[in-house]
Amino acid sequence: MRQGRASATARLIALATVMREGDSPAGAAPWCARMLSIHRKDRILLRSVRHPIGRSFWNAVERLTLPGMVAHWLRRKREIDRLARQAAADGFTQLLVLGAGLDTLSWRTAEARVFERVVSADHPATLAAVERAVAPTSLVTLVPIDLADGLTESVPTALDPDAQTLVVIEGVLMYLSESHTERLLADLANLPAPRLRLIASYMTDRPNRPIGFTNQNALVRPWLATRGEPMLWASTDEDLGAMLDRLGWSARAFAGLETPDGSSPGLPDERLVVAER
Ligand SMILES: C[S@@+](CC[C@H](N)C(=O)[O-])C[C@H]1O[C@@H](n2cnc3c(N)ncnc32)[C@H](O)[C@@H]1O
Repeated sequence: MRQGRASATARLIALATVMREGDSPAGAAPWCARMLSIHRKDRILLRSVRHPIGRSFWNAVERLTLPGMVAHWLRRKREIDRLARQAAADGFTQLLVLGAGLDTLSWRTAEARVFERVVSADHPATLAAVERAVAPTSLVTLVPIDLADGLTESVPTALDPDAQTLVVIEGVLMYLSESHTERLLADLANLPAPRLRLIASYMTDRPNRPIGFTNQNALVRPWLATRGEPMLWASTDEDLGAMLDRLGWSARAFAGLETPDGSSPGLPDERLVVAER
């Protein structure tokens, strides 16, 4: 991530959420618009996605760079929203979102009292933008963290150790190295909660192919690098399953984001895992 700058990918996903409000989880777009209202550059981008000409421009950019990316992001968000609400129905009362960016799951579920306690953690620079946009509110506890250092003491301190805890890591692990990912998943498994459920997305490792989306344009990789957000880690169901096993996570389920009827296609290169400890 560029020094002192909020994550470019997180801001892009928030813009996409506003642009395709109809495909976003209910109530997500207004929260994203609020988070994009602080910086002048973001306000200009926000105006562009609300204008028909601006939307045509951004749709063309998407078609040229990574066709289907926006539908994939929003499908991922709807599926994680569904899984999070299922976890609440299963008795999980605390939500921890890591690398939350400008995502709104924590805010929407805290506002609707889906979880009793909600903690959201991200890089200090990304979190600062969120904090300014939502202040003053005590709905969600914000924790600045560099996940490459594992779970520093600040995260367990913010959590209720007696609560069944759902951890969501959406669109984040690909930006950590394999050793940092393993350390983070190990630290999470050691959290002092009676029951933990993990929902995480991860990039699919394909032999002899660089990490990324199959249909991405050649410009995507250098663009991510200039933003300080190169993709560093991908895995397979088998390898990630073995890693989770080693770290004490069980009851795993892996799923793609493609819908069987093709009504809301996700891309095949990023998948979800749900595990428990
Ligand atoms: C692609 S964005 C995803 C944001 C959000 N989870 C979503 O799905 O909309 C990646 C997020 O991971 C965060 N991130 C990446 N590396 C991180 C690190 N080492 N420590 C903390 N956050 C990190 C970025 O700040 C950014 O918010």
